Amino acid sequence: MKQSLIIALDFPSLIQTKQFLQHFQSEKLAVKVGMELFYQNGPGIISFVKEQGHDIFLDLKLHDIPNTVKMAMRGLATLNVDMVNVHAAGGSRMMEAALEGLDSGTATGKKRPLCIGVTQLTSTSQEQMNLEQNINGTLEDAVLHYAKLSGQAGLDGVVCSTHEVRRIHEHISDQFMTVTPGIRNEGGPTHDQHRIATPEQARIIGSDAIVVGRAITSAKDPLQTYLDMKASWEGIRC
Ligand code: C5P
Repeated sequence: MKQSLIIALDFPSLIQTKQFLQHFQSEKLAVKVGMELFYQNGPGIISFVKEQGHDIFLDLKLHDIPNTVKMAMRGLATLNVDMVNVHAAGGSRMMEAALEGLDSGTATGKKRPLCIGVTQLTSTSQEQMNLEQNINGTLEDAVLHYAKLSGQAGLDGVVCSTHEVRRIHEHISDQFMTVTPGIRNEGGPTHDQHRIATPEQARIIGSDAIVVGRAITSAKDPLQTYLDMKASWEGIRC
């Protein structure tokens, strides 16, 4: 998953997912399956996407008591996905339990799925964090705190905005993965994302993987848009 452009498959049904993936028959993709698709279609969606040869980031953002997360992760590891995630707010013991579950569910000789932490959702404002979560200080400091906690618990990285990548790498390590959504083409519609960057800006700033949804899924020509964004992410001049 490192260095990947991950396409967010934000579709409600298997049929729409199949229609979209038909554009990419000659491409090996990295895709993100989130709650919408997984909860409505179950583990069968994972087998289908895997059969197409694509890598999968299963974005279910687990957050529960350590034992529940451990047993859930054990099950998710058997689905043969490549990356999963948890809310860092669940605490270090919960994150360690997630890794234990993944280890125990990974077949001998196979690589355990990467596990990354969700720091603060990009939809959370600083005011909301201060007032509703009762966390003082800036959003940036809270993100860095959760990233450090995730690293100490042994997680492989975090989801964050491109604006936080440098600080996280400086304080933790360059090897700690930063997975960044909010990616748009220059001048493209921003939708509901506030802190956006182009694939090229994300590469320059040091993002380890980018997540792209609507810029590709809503494009007139999804394959060409994907190829253009991938080239710009990889630093290939067209
Ligand atoms: O369409 P768009 O490119 O904005 O989609 C971004 C994807 O990344 C969505 O699936 C969204 O849920 C996900 N995401 C995000 N911000 C986060 C975590 C995940 O936008 N902090």
